[in-house]
Amino acid sequence: KTQTLLLGQTLRFTGNPLSDPWEDTVRIDSDGAVLIEGAHIKAVGRAGDLRKAHPQATVKDYGDRLICPGFVDAHVHYPQTAIIASWGKRLIDWLNTYTFPEEMRLSDPEYARDIAGRYLDLTLANGTTTVCSFATIAPTSVDAIFEAAAARGQRVVAGKTCMDRNAPDGLRDTAQSAYDDSKALIDRWHDKGRASYAITPRFTPTSTPEQLAALGALWSERPGCLMQTHLSEQVDEIAWVKDLVPHARDYLDTYEEHGLVRDRAVFGHAIHLTPREIDRLADSGASVVHCPTSNTFIGSGLFDMAQIAARRIPIGLATDTGGGSSFSMLRTMAAAYEIGQLRGTPTHAAQLMWLATAGSARSLHLHDKIGTLAEGYEADISILDLASTPAIKQRSENAKNTWAQLFATIMMGDDRAISDVWVNGVRRG
Ligand code: GUN
Ligand code: FE
Repeated sequence: KTQTLLLGQTLRFTGNPLSDPWEDTVRIDSDGAVLIEGAHIKAVGRAGDLRKAHPQATVKDYGDRLICPGFVDAHVHYPQTAIIASWGKRLIDWLNTYTFPEEMRLSDPEYARDIAGRYLDLTLANGTTTVCSFATIAPTSVDAIFEAAAARGQRVVAGKTCMDRNAPDGLRDTAQSAYDDSKALIDRWHDKGRASYAITPRFTPTSTPEQLAALGALWSERPGCLMQTHLSEQVDEIAWVKDLVPHARDYLDTYEEHGLVRDRAVFGHAIHLTPREIDRLADSGASVVHCPTSNTFIGSGLFDMAQIAARRIPIGLATDTGGGSSFSMLRTMAAAYEIGQLRGTPTHAAQLMWLATAGSARSLHLHDKIGTLAEGYEADISILDLASTPAIKQRSENAKNTWAQLFATIMMGDDRAISDVWVNGVRRG
C-alpha cells in the first residue's frame, strides 16, 4: 500500500469539548504529521518522529497550514442546490414556492445525476467530505447521490424523502410505496462501500400517521440504518403539527408514537423544544442537528446549543442546503458562533471545529470511522490555509496564537481557505 506523510499543523481531539473544557480535549500541534496508508490514517504524531519511522513514505509538506478532519455536514438537501438563496419566504411558503417545484424536477434521473455531481463537487471545494442528505421522493434521486459519492470515493448518508400529504401532485408517495421503495433502497445501498441509508420522512406535516407507522416498522426490520427528519424548526410549523395530530403531547411525540425516537434518529433544527422533548431526546440517544445559516435565513429561531449540550444530546452541525444560505462549513461555524453570541454563550473555535467534524460524525453514528485524525480512521482530510485572503492574512499576522488565526478563518474564510482535500486516502485537491 502506498504511504503518504502529510506535514503541517494538526488538529487533534482527545475528548468532547462540549462536555469538557476545550483546552483538555482539543489541541493544535505545530510540526505535526499524518501518515496515510491506502484509504486509512496509519499514524498521527510529530513530523520528525514519523519521518524517521517511515522514510519510504511520499512527503507532502503543507508548511504551517492546518491539517484537519474533513468536514461532515450532518443535514442537507442536495436536490435544493439550484434554489439556494431564494428570497423572502418563511418555512411553509418557502417549501411550496421554491422547494417543491425544484424537487419535482429531480424526478428526471438525468437532472438528478447532474445536480448530485455538481453538489458534491461544491461541497468538496468547501472541504466537506461527508454529507447526510435528503433526496426527493424519487428513488432514482437516491441512486444519483450514492452513485456520485461512490465515483468520488465519498462516505455519504442519504435517503428517499417520504411525503404522502400536503405536497403537490407528482411529489407524493403512499405509506405502502414509501415502505417498499425505502426497503429496496436500503437493501441496494446500506453499508455498500461507504454508503449508509437513512429512512427519511420529511416531517410530520407531510407524512400521515400511516406513513410514519410504516417507516417505523421498516426501521425495526432494518435497525442498523439511520432515520432523519425535521423537528420544531418554526413556530407556525409546530402549530400546524398540533392541528394535524391533536392527541400528541408535543411535536416529538408524533414521531415517538411510531417508534422513530431512539439512537440513530437524527432530528434537524430542534429549536423550539419543550422540557419533555428535551428529556425524551436525552434518554433516547437520538441526535439533533444545528443548522444556523438556515435558522436565520428562513427566520426560524436561535438554537440553544448550550442547553442541549448540557443534556449530553449528540449535536451535529449542518448547512441545511438549500434552506441554509451557504455550502461552506466555515460559514456555518461562523453562524453558529453568532447565534451563540445572541444567546450569551460564545462557542470557542475548538468547539466549532469539533462540531463540524467529530461532533457531526458522532451525530450520524460514524464517529469510529470519520471526523478525527487518529490511527485506523478513514483518511478524509481537509487542509486549511489560515491566511487565505488579504484581510484574513492581516488578522492572522496580528493573532496571538493559532487558535486566534483559526477563528479568523472560521469567521471570514470561504472556499479559498481550503488548500487541499483528501478523500479515502486519495487527493482530490
Ligand atoms: N422542513 C421540511 N422540509 C424542509 C426542508 O426542505 N428544509 C427545511 N429547512 N425545513 C424543512
Ligand atoms: Fe432540512
